[in-house]
Amino acid sequence: MWSLSKILKLGSLMGVMTFFLFSTSAWAKEVVYPDLSPKKIEIKRGYTPEALKCIECHAKETPGIVANWKEGRMSHAGVSCYDCHVVPKDSPMASQCKGVKKTMPNVYTSPMVSAKTCERCHPVEMEQFSKSAHARRAGKPVIEKAKYQKLMYDLEGGVSGVPEGHDLRTVPRQAGCQMCHGTEVKLEADNKPDDKTWPGGVGTRYPDGGIGNCSVCHNRHSFKVSQARKPEACGKCHIGPDHPNIEIYMASSHGQLYTTEGEQWNWDSPPDAWEPGDYSAPTCATCHMSGIGDLSTTHNVTERLYWDMAHVKSVVRSGEYGDGEKGRKLMRKVCNNCHSELHTDTHFAKLDRANELYNSYIEGAQKMMDELKAKKLLKKDKWKDPFQELFYFLWHHAGRRARHGTAMDAPDYAQWHGFFQMMNIYKDMEDLYKWRIENNKIEALSPVMSPGPY
Ligand code: HEC
Ligand code: HEC
Ligand code: HEC
Ligand code: HEC
Ligand code: HEC
Ligand code: HEC
Ligand code: HEC
Ligand code: HEC
Repeated sequence: MWSLSKILKLGSLMGVMTFFLFSTSAWAKEVVYPDLSPKKIEIKRGYTPEALKCIECHAKETPGIVANWKEGRMSHAGVSCYDCHVVPKDSPMASQCKGVKKTMPNVYTSPMVSAKTCERCHPVEMEQFSKSAHARRAGKPVIEKAKYQKLMYDLEGGVSGVPEGHDLRTVPRQAGCQMCHGTEVKLEADNKPDDKTWPGGVGTRYPDGGIGNCSVCHNRHSFKVSQARKPEACGKCHIGPDHPNIEIYMASSHGQLYTTEGEQWNWDSPPDAWEPGDYSAPTCATCHMSGIGDLSTTHNVTERLYWDMAHVKSVVRSGEYGDGEKGRKLMRKVCNNCHSELHTDTHFAKLDRANELYNSYIEGAQKMMDELKAKKLLKKDKWKDPFQELFYFLWHHAGRRARHGTAMDAPDYAQWHGFFQMMNIYKDMEDLYKWRIENNKIEALSPVMSPGPY
């Protein structure tokens, strides 16, 4: 369904065109009409013989893949295995699958498909995506930051005595961080991907220089737009104790409508024409990505955000993290399709207060931390130091839940999994702080049941 504003925009464009037609016809001597006589129009459907070979053999070898591909729109438009998996011989990712080796020795294939491949036909989506935290930041902690590498290799693998350089040392990264964030894909001698670095999440960096794995939301091989619009498309990664976004969504009024009525919604409208009426409540995609009303679809999930609530202190976004003021304006436009200005004002005033309260806890906790540090009352290994461990749970778990819960209307996460637990954690931190200051030493054993209730 087209929004009124879009119709109006179209209307004014047509107005301008009509004005030109009439004003020019006043002096134009000869009107030139288009030649409508029949011409030979040829629309080529179907596949090249090489592309057909991939499909035919893979229908036997990997029937599940071919079945999924057949369900999607791209197969109907003639986009096949060949378009996404065949690479030039000199590509750093060029290898050969068992089948091409035998039947098409000059053809090179790659199981890795980076966003660069999709960019050939979808440059606009790629351009937007490359500005998002999904492309720019997601891979960073896994690939670039020594701090996190230490966390993954030394603490998570190393504490059990696994020696440095051993394969087991990287298991937490491979099975955890990498599957959401992505890592840098390394190659074996035959150019097949190293099994410790592939496949990976949204920010995967590929040997062809491409950044991003588009198939994390557009699951292969149907790549359906209808599927990416559902909240479950985000839920694999936006889940769990530290960013329970899918749980928050399901607990919100919007999620309530999605769960009870979603089956009747129209999920398949063209981009920018998926509007209220096709659905009665927004999904993650509606608020963070889809076109709605005046707004156009964007693959930059950072664009509509105001607060940075992912890090220790809540700050208004700027620089690398986006443009907060602009983000607020855009997000408000989403809400105003279905809510009054009054309702939207109310919501964001509440969110801003929640961030203020959150920051006041963090300031207090940071002050205690700084004083303990100055007095040498912190352990070097923060995972053996209950004060520091609690600080982590305060911001990274309970604190994110409180803020995300408020931002996306999940009272249970804002309160019971959020501010309530922050209060409890903070009180325990105060006790530890006071004890250390009074006794001028660190208590012998940790009273914290590591992830325990937090
Ligand atoms: C629109 C692009 C596209 C098309 C068309 C396509 N693929 Fe893929 N394929 C991908 C992407 C993206 C991945 C995931 C790559 C990654 O993680 O780096 C993938 C992964 C794969 C994999 C490796 C993963 C696995 O599950 O084993 C195989 C095999 C594969 N595709 C076969 C096929 C076959 C066969 C066809 C044709 C029927 C096909 N693909 C068509 C994009 C495509
Ligand atoms: C004669 C059969 C045959 C043909 C033709 C064929 N393949 Fe394969 N392909 C296979 C088999 C067998 C495998 C291995 C499947 C397995 O590991 O279970 C495979 C694996 C793959 C993989 C996974 C990565 C890898 O290297 O093992 C990709 C990607 C792939 N093929 C793409 C293609 C493309 C693209 C074409 C067409 C240019 C093609 N295949 C043609 C039989 C074929
Ligand atoms: C060779 C060109 C080509 C390549 C490469 C390509 N696409 Fe497409 N894609 C198309 C065309 C054409 C359509 C429109 C199909 C239609 O609606 O008829 C399309 C449609 C889509 C859609 C919309 C599907 C729907 O349900 O409406 C998505 C999502 C998509 N592509 C994602 C991708 C991703 C992700 C990649 C890379 C893994 C990719 N495409 C690679 C040509 C391509
Ligand atoms: C494969 C995992 C994965 C999937 C699927 C995924 N995301 Fe993300 N998302 C991430 C990671 C990782 C980050 C953190 C990026 C960073 O800041 O380093 C993130 C960050 C974000 C952010 C914050 C951006 C910022 O600038 O801080 C938003 C909003 C977001 N995602 C929305 C979505 C939506 C909506 C979907 C589904 C349509 C989705 N994501 C699907 C992994 C994923
Ligand atoms: C279940 C998926 C998932 C796993 C596993 C995961 N993350 Fe994240 N991570 C995310 C999402 C989603 C966000 C964005 C949270 C937000 O925007 O508030 C994020 C945010 C982050 C951030 C802050 C964003 C930034 O750019 O500064 C860092 C750092 C981070 N993760 C590191 C890691 C490390 C290191 C691991 C493994 C030890 C890991 N993550 C495991 C999904 C995941
Ligand atoms: C965070 C999840 C996510 C990621 C990652 C993602 N997309 Fe999308 N994509 C979506 C959503 C949601 C829509 C539907 C937006 C709407 O409602 O119009 C969409 C729509 C599209 C469409 C439009 C479909 C059509 O009918 O024209 C194309 C094409 C597309 N994506 C390609 C890509 C490409 C290429 C990449 C990688 C560079 C990518 N997407 C990465 C979530 C994602
Ligand atoms: C009703 C609209 C709406 C829906 C639905 C929605 N969000 Fe949000 N989301 C917001 C708002 C508003 C914010 C906070 C914006 C601000 O002020 O920064 C936010 C914040 C976020 C952030 C926090 C980024 C940070 O700074 O830490 C992530 C990640 C996110 N959303 C992901 C999702 C995912 C995943 C879903 C679906 C499971 C979802 N959102 C559903 C509106 C929505
Ligand atoms: C497609 C329409 C639609 C959009 C867009 C939308 N909402 Fe809603 N929202 C609803 C509906 C419908 C309800 C359920 C009202 C009820 O429970 O009776 C709702 C309920 C809510 C509630 C629960 C409180 C209440 O009034 O019952 C909040 C808070 C909320 N929305 C905030 C937002 C914010 C903030 C945005 C923008 C970021 C937004 N909504 C975007 C349709 C929408």
